[in-house]
Amino acid sequence: MELLELMKHRHSIRKYTDERIRTDNLEKILQAGMLSATGRNKRPWEFIVVREKSMLTQLANSKTAGAQMLSKADTAIVVIADPEKTDTWIEDCSIAMANMHLMAHSLGIGSCWVQGRLREAKDGSSAEDYLRSLLHYPEKYKLLATLSLGMPNEQKTPADLETLPAEKIHWEQY
Ligand SMILES: Cc1cc2nc3c(=O)[nH]c(=O)nc-3n(C[C@H](O)[C@H](O)[C@H](O)COP(=O)(O)O)c2cc1C
Repeated sequence: MELLELMKHRHSIRKYTDERIRTDNLEKILQAGMLSATGRNKRPWEFIVVREKSMLTQLANSKTAGAQMLSKADTAIVVIADPEKTDTWIEDCSIAMANMHLMAHSLGIGSCWVQGRLREAKDGSSAEDYLRSLLHYPEKYKLLATLSLGMPNEQKTPADLETLPAEKIHWEQY
């Protein structure tokens, strides 16, 4: 499918069936993450792949709201980075997240961004510290977000190019 067509059909998917994601497809999603552009090619990110049910249930408490879909997800990819490597770590991690989200969609797999940076966990700690205590990443790593993944159990209407906010495009000057 042409990329724009794929993008029109992309949506955040938060409801999943019990069907497992094939490991070869999971590998492709991770490859998409690692193929992402990074400032000065520093690749500051690390990807923590979680598939264990009991851990996914705990990841669902990593935010006060907006992370509950993780308890029913097949897989979570937690994206962290070492800010000492580069001052573009947020951009670098965001691009990897977006590429993995789109790659998942292209394979018929549903996914959703779960914001972690600047967010609070249900126990009152930061999402970053909460996930660090579960996943044991070193102090120097910062949390960007988690990608929740599963076989889709909801259908969403594709976007209509005619309804895009064209007024936000400013040619030559604002
Ligand atoms: C930076 C960012 C943070 C987001 N955080 C969350 C989140 O914590 N929980 C959630 O359910 N969705 C989250 N989303 C998904 C958005 O809610 C979603 O992209 C938006 O509503 C548009 O819907 P669509 O992705 O289906 O087009 C996030 C998306 C982005 C880009």
